[in-house]
Amino acid sequence: MKTAIVPGSFDPITSGHLDVIRRVSILFDKIVIGVAKNVAKAPMFTLEERVELARAATADIPNVSVEEFDSLLVEFAGAKDAHAVVRGLRAVSDFEHEFQMAQLNRELDDTVETVFVMASPEYAYLSSSAVREIAEYGGVVKTLVPPVVEDALKKKIASRKGGR
Ligand code: PNS
Repeated sequence: MKTAIVPGSFDPITSGHLDVIRRVSILFDKIVIGVAKNVAKAPMFTLEERVELARAATADIPNVSVEEFDSLLVEFAGAKDAHAVVRGLRAVSDFEHEFQMAQLNRELDDTVETVFVMASPEYAYLSSSAVREIAEYGGVVKTLVPPVVEDALKKKIASRKGGR
């Protein structure tokens, strides 16, 4: 069984993430989406919400599961018996950070290989932070996220405005 981890903050999962996940789901026997507990900035969605949205968005892909993790990525990969970590690359600007992460992860555990997948051109500009910002200002995110995330964004923003 060849298992790959697709790690990230997924705050929230976008159509760009889903594109990469679908494309790699045919290359590996099993894909585990690893939702990182600790993200650099305060996330819009709680860990439970980020996991739930990723699960709902990938429910139709049979060999994909979603789990949270709160450890080094290579430790999570080891626990899942995965020897590949998949990262999407959108533009040259992603490269430096991704290169650094891949090298550090290799230093930590050289049995885990980082595999890069080029974003499809229609998603090359897309990021979770851009989606959050567009949604915060009432912009249309229909083509940028799956419907379940679009609904969740509307609810989250409405609940914040309602002071809850
Ligand atoms: O979606 P993101 O924010 O680009 O994902 C970054 C993530 C979660 C993959 C990265 O921060 C990570 O792997 N965190 C786990 C902690 C870890 O292993 N850090 C060392 C890697 S350099």
